[in-house]
Amino acid sequence: MPVTLLNSPEASSLPVYAVEADALDACQAPKAAIAWAKANGFSGAAATVLTIPGESGALAGAFFGLGNSDAANPLAAGALARQLPEGDWHFADVPKQAELALLGLLLGSYAFTRYGKKPRNTLRFRVPEGVDASRVERLANGCILARDLINTPAGDMGPDALEDATRALASEHGATLSVTLGDDLLKENLPMIHAVGRAAEAAPRLLDLKWGRENAPKVTLVGKGVCFDTGGLDLKPAAGMLLMKKDMGGAANVLGLASMIMAAKLDVRLRVLIPAVENAVAGNAFRPGDVLTSRKGLTVEIGNTDAEGRLVLADAMALADEEEPELLIDMATLTGAARVALGPDVPPFYTDNEALADALAQASESVADPLWRMPLWKPYLSRLDSKIADINNVSLDGFAGSPIAGLFLGRFVEKAKSWAHFDIYGWNPAEKPYAPVGGEAQGIRAIERVLVQRYGAGA
Ligand code: BES
Ligand code: MN
Ligand code: ZN
Repeated sequence: MPVTLLNSPEASSLPVYAVEADALDACQAPKAAIAWAKANGFSGAAATVLTIPGESGALAGAFFGLGNSDAANPLAAGALARQLPEGDWHFADVPKQAELALLGLLLGSYAFTRYGKKPRNTLRFRVPEGVDASRVERLANGCILARDLINTPAGDMGPDALEDATRALASEHGATLSVTLGDDLLKENLPMIHAVGRAAEAAPRLLDLKWGRENAPKVTLVGKGVCFDTGGLDLKPAAGMLLMKKDMGGAANVLGLASMIMAAKLDVRLRVLIPAVENAVAGNAFRPGDVLTSRKGLTVEIGNTDAEGRLVLADAMALADEEEPELLIDMATLTGAARVALGPDVPPFYTDNEALADALAQASESVADPLWRMPLWKPYLSRLDSKIADINNVSLDGFAGSPIAGLFLGRFVEKAKSWAHFDIYGWNPAEKPYAPVGGEAQGIRAIERVLVQRYGAGA
């Protein structure tokens, strides 16, 4: 990582002075430095950085703008990782939300370098007092894993590569991975995963990772692993297909979350289920009008092959549900409708468990990981009625697309003690101080917070 953390105070590191909007005079920096800032028109605007020269022309420090403190995002410290020159640095004063500031730095230093783009400047940053650096690193590593997986194009991140990445994570933490591949999906009664993925060159599969003490509370994460979504026979138009390498964003996010959980050694029996498929077009593709029989036994009429995520998730979630987990979480780039409702940066989540909803909303706020609850509005279930099967995979009009997709999934969850569904975008369409354009982790730091509250920080 281009930003590494200094645990012991280094006498030589340079100070970063945080400045609220138009509050230069309140800053602890030397008078000459403040005069320099004024001469340069630096006003403390959010996420701006100005370096300070020393007497001999060497660097003496930097100013960092916090902007209007009410609107300030603590992760905006990431701008430092993107703008400071190479060297050793520290915050002149411990930032208000120091853990998030440090996390912002690590996240802001991220670049996707697999295809030759240069990494960002190498910085070393002193850990502010009272901050648990290893926790911050666990969180950053999980988010960066999710970003890397999403950013890798489908040509290099097909179902096989997603399996490899899952296996690598499993072996790093002593987890087990079992894989149900190709026609074995039919033998193991996972027919909808097979139907969606069978037209692709790479065989569809279900990845099943397990970790932790067998008798610990069961927490199961299910992630949509559609490595590319052409829409199937109801093909997407070019503009809608362009970004569909990110349709395994749910899988990438649950793997990032799993890495946080395992690195923190939370006392849970973790299970991660990823249906890894490509929604491709070929002579053996599933068709509009087909009726699939799901693992659960419910028959599903295919109104549109582009509503494939809910199909592969339904079989994985039915399997998850069979062992009655204490908490079932699924994450998926499930609907365009979620973006229409809340935009790319605020994923909606759905649950009927009030305590879980409250915990998630609070955690989301406290760790600056946006989430917003939307309703599983039961009367809308009738919009999925089918003339010939138990349920259709789409409703006829576009109304409430994201809630209805959630209701569809809910038909496959019965025994889990609690369940939450996250309809994420998995992508930053615009650069942020703590993130470049590209794949993004969403919601997993908030979920991690809730899991730590419930299952202890571990060893
Ligand atoms: N992967 C897409 C949803 C998606 C599209 C998420 C763009 C983020 C950005 C999903 O498989 C899909 O195509 N959903 C359809 C559902 C429709 C056919 C009911 C959609 O949202 O249009
Ligand atoms: Mn689709
Ligand atoms: Zn999809």
